[in-house]
Amino acid sequence: MAGLFSPLTVKGLTFGNRIVMPPMANNMATPDGGVTDRQVEHYMTRAGRDVALVMVEHSYVRRDGRATDRQLGIYDDALIPGLHRLATAIKRAGSLAGIQITHCGSRTTSGVIGRRPGGPSDVVVPGDKEAPEPFAVEELADIVGAFGAAARRAVEAGFDLIEVHGAHGYLLNQFLSPYTNRRRDAYGGNQCNRLRLALEVVAEVRRQVGADYVLVYRLGSDDMLEGGLHLANAQWAAPQLVAEGIDVIDVSGGLLGSRPPHLQGQVGYFVPLAEGIKAVTGVPVCVAGGISNPEYADKIVREGRTDLVGIGRALLADPAWARRAREAVARPGD
Ligand SMILES: Cc1cc2nc3c(=O)[nH]c(=O)nc-3n(C[C@H](O)[C@H](O)[C@H](O)COP(=O)(O)O)c2cc1C
Repeated sequence: MAGLFSPLTVKGLTFGNRIVMPPMANNMATPDGGVTDRQVEHYMTRAGRDVALVMVEHSYVRRDGRATDRQLGIYDDALIPGLHRLATAIKRAGSLAGIQITHCGSRTTSGVIGRRPGGPSDVVVPGDKEAPEPFAVEELADIVGAFGAAARRAVEAGFDLIEVHGAHGYLLNQFLSPYTNRRRDAYGGNQCNRLRLALEVVAEVRRQVGADYVLVYRLGSDDMLEGGLHLANAQWAAPQLVAEGIDVIDVSGGLLGSRPPHLQGQVGYFVPLAEGIKAVTGVPVCVAGGISNPEYADKIVREGRTDLVGIGRALLADPAWARRAREAVARPGD
């Protein structure tokens, strides 16, 4: 039975084991979103053969999709050489290199992007302050194109795979959630319409990268809010994302983010969501959230509750976490 250190092959791409460094923004980019030496160093310190995949942090596909001032960008061809340096460093260290592409929608401020943030409707994501301006349908077509162009850049930069960010209250999550999407056009009003933008993005990204390239979708699978989306909605959406070209679902939280306050302290708090998504898709799933014990990580893989395990804050705190985990769970025959 597969465990934490068993390989996994997806579309011919082999993960040496099941440990993933999930995307974690570090705000170390230049003001234009370019890669810095410090950032390369940050990833190099954690990449290595014991971490199968390093997923580079959320990188904005359009200037108005930037959440913070020093966020990494992937919105312009001029950024490709820096991204290439980063991907190359991660791969040389021994991990697969992935990158998460995103538009934050309303989860920014006019101070950061120089205009009123856009979103599906004028509803604030809990915790944010500025009410967004609803995007016109023509703008949505441009955003779909921007995701596609970002995917092409990621491939040119040498990344092994791409993750589309559809969680944590960012744009695609905002569109899928009935809490933030109150539109009455083709992009809202019912569940099918709320999923439309995500499906268009996935189709365009797939068109840009070709059939053989691995695509991951980070799916906000429960907003944990009354009036928001819940696991049943995510279970309805996930197979459609797969049908449109997604190879792996990275299961996470929705509008309340990746670390909902009421779940902190709980081990593997999104694992039940991952099981729920795995049950309906037939593709590998990944899950992060409160996992720092190697034996527990090994157990959830062995029990088939997830295929890949994201180790976020524990890898930030201890760059050698995965090497120590290998020693901790080593079993004869693995
Ligand atoms: C500093 C920090 C930055 C993060 N940035 C991102 C990000 O860019 N994209 C994303 O999808 N999740 C982001 N996350 C969420 C993590 O990927 C992960 O889901 C979360 O930390 C829970 O896993 P953990 O308990 O192992 O840390 C971030 C988390 C932290 C702590």
